[in-house]
Amino acid sequence: MPVSSTLAPFGTSIFAEMTGLAMRHQAINLSQGFPDFDGPDFLKVAAVAAIRAGHNQYARSFGVPALNAAIARDFTTTGGYTITDPDTHITITSGCTEALPATILGLINPGDEVILIEPFYDSYPACIALARATPRVLTLRPDKSGTFALDPAELEAAFNTRTRAILLNTPHNPTGKVFSQAELSHISSLCIKHNVLCIVDEVYEKLVYSPALPHLHIASFPGMAERTITLSSLGKSFSVTGWKIGWAIAPPHLTAGVRAAHQFLTFATSTPMQHAAAHALASPDGAAYLKSLIAQYAASRDQLAAALTHAGFIPHRTDGTYFIMADASPVISRLAARPGLGHIQDDITLCRWMTEHLKVAAIPPTAFYINKAHGRHFVRFAFCKKPETLAAAAERLNMLCS
Ligand SMILES: Cc1ncc(COP(=O)(O)O)c(C=O)c1O
Repeated sequence: MPVSSTLAPFGTSIFAEMTGLAMRHQAINLSQGFPDFDGPDFLKVAAVAAIRAGHNQYARSFGVPALNAAIARDFTTTGGYTITDPDTHITITSGCTEALPATILGLINPGDEVILIEPFYDSYPACIALARATPRVLTLRPDKSGTFALDPAELEAAFNTRTRAILLNTPHNPTGKVFSQAELSHISSLCIKHNVLCIVDEVYEKLVYSPALPHLHIASFPGMAERTITLSSLGKSFSVTGWKIGWAIAPPHLTAGVRAAHQFLTFATSTPMQHAAAHALASPDGAAYLKSLIAQYAASRDQLAAALTHAGFIPHRTDGTYFIMADASPVISRLAARPGLGHIQDDITLCRWMTEHLKVAAIPPTAFYINKAHGRHFVRFAFCKKPETLAAAAERLNMLCS
């Protein structure tokens, strides 16, 4: 059967492609962002207990009460606004991956414009296309200090009478950027001025490393609660990406749109995993786990950044997420000058060659750009891996120096 004309242009997700290539070549997989270590025991025990306790039938469509309540508490204590009624503000979805189309299909009309910031998570443009809306693309570019930033004038010019929403991601995959108070204030003022919705993907909200640049919920900025849909999930924070427990937080009038789509996308998501997720967010075990994970990831980030620098890449600073975006221009030029390697000219040819010959897989970020030229000299590496995995990758990357 031919793929529909809406989805055919999007091909196969780059994550599936690179992980498949990594497996075929037995490469160390620093491409797809999933930990190569298991989630915490206390969480597995909670999931098994929920199954044994008989929580095995369809959940309430918008989530089991304990999880809605735990998310509301967590959102409030981490600087969000106070949610007095979790049942009218929070919808549990099958990962943030479902929260995205539920929000976009439920609230965006055909012909609306959605401001899309590149590089983006690859499902964003596909969701916008499914809603028959039009992306209005802005590019994050490194400034003089190497920090990815939007041009304020370009940002202002992107808003117009057809703009229905801006789709924001902070902490940002793939750049590792955490949007600052000043940047979020500017975006907020434009959303309010033009009466635009803000859909914010915060799946890496817990994974931030710089006290000077904490994660901020844009929903809590003045005038933003009534126009913001905050999306997040459990997988990255608790190293259980396969559980696919996500959520959308929004006031009731916007939640109505999210649920209008959610009921027909999945209706409800895994009941026992929702019970375990509530435990993760509400228990001291969860808080202790997060503290140690953040310390571990800060060390992993430094370990990988040092290895990349040694191999000739120029890693950009990661303040959040578990990715490093590295400028690969020096490596591409060096390799392309070698006999037989003249075909290595961009991120895609470099990542394929590294996977097949160095046995280290990474993501070519042009998949995250509509304007491909902006991404072709970068490579994205994931550091959500054991120290010994990163050490083995460093050894192989060293071969780039010889
Ligand atoms: C920015 C971003 N949004 C959403 C997702 C998907 O989240 P989930 O695994 O909860 O579906 C990811 C996963 O990599 C991501 O990086």
